[in-house]
Amino acid sequence: MKATTMLRQQHREVRKLFGDVKKTFNGDERRTILAAIEEKLRGHMMVEQHIFYPAVAGRVTPRPEAHHAVQIVLDELLDVDPDDERFEAKMTVLEEIIQRHVEEDENVVFPAADRRLGDEALAELAERMQAALDGAESAPEMSAAPAPLVQARAKSR
Ligand SMILES: [Fe+2]
Repeated sequence: MKATTMLRQQHREVRKLFGDVKKTFNGDERRTILAAIEEKLRGHMMVEQHIFYPAVAGRVTPRPEAHHAVQIVLDELLDVDPDDERFEAKMTVLEEIIQRHVEEDENVVFPAADRRLGDEALAELAERMQAALDGAESAPEMSAAPAPLVQARAKSR
């Protein structure tokens, strides 16, 4: 599998989970789905930031700000009780930010990576990304580290 195909699948999975969370108003179900969204998103951002984006750097220029925004809103959302009226609004904001990230990845970054890296390099990247996802728990330094923006915000509290 190509790295870009794998990342597209992860985008699909996250968007499907957003569809699921919007269909239920049960707090426990929302919590469960939100936990799945968090896990998928953190894994996705981790492999993009640490493996995929560095591999395509110089050929394409992804904007990591999108990941910072996702992390900030995701952390805020995790602080809000699913029964709280703010939950819905924060979900919508997160979904919109992710939508913009997906569009940029899929319309700009991935097509350029597909053209310029070649199938063999993309397959090798996918293997490295899968290995990182499989070993994420045993290698904490590979987990999605808080972005500098998030750290700055936390300090200013
Ligand atoms: Fe992505």
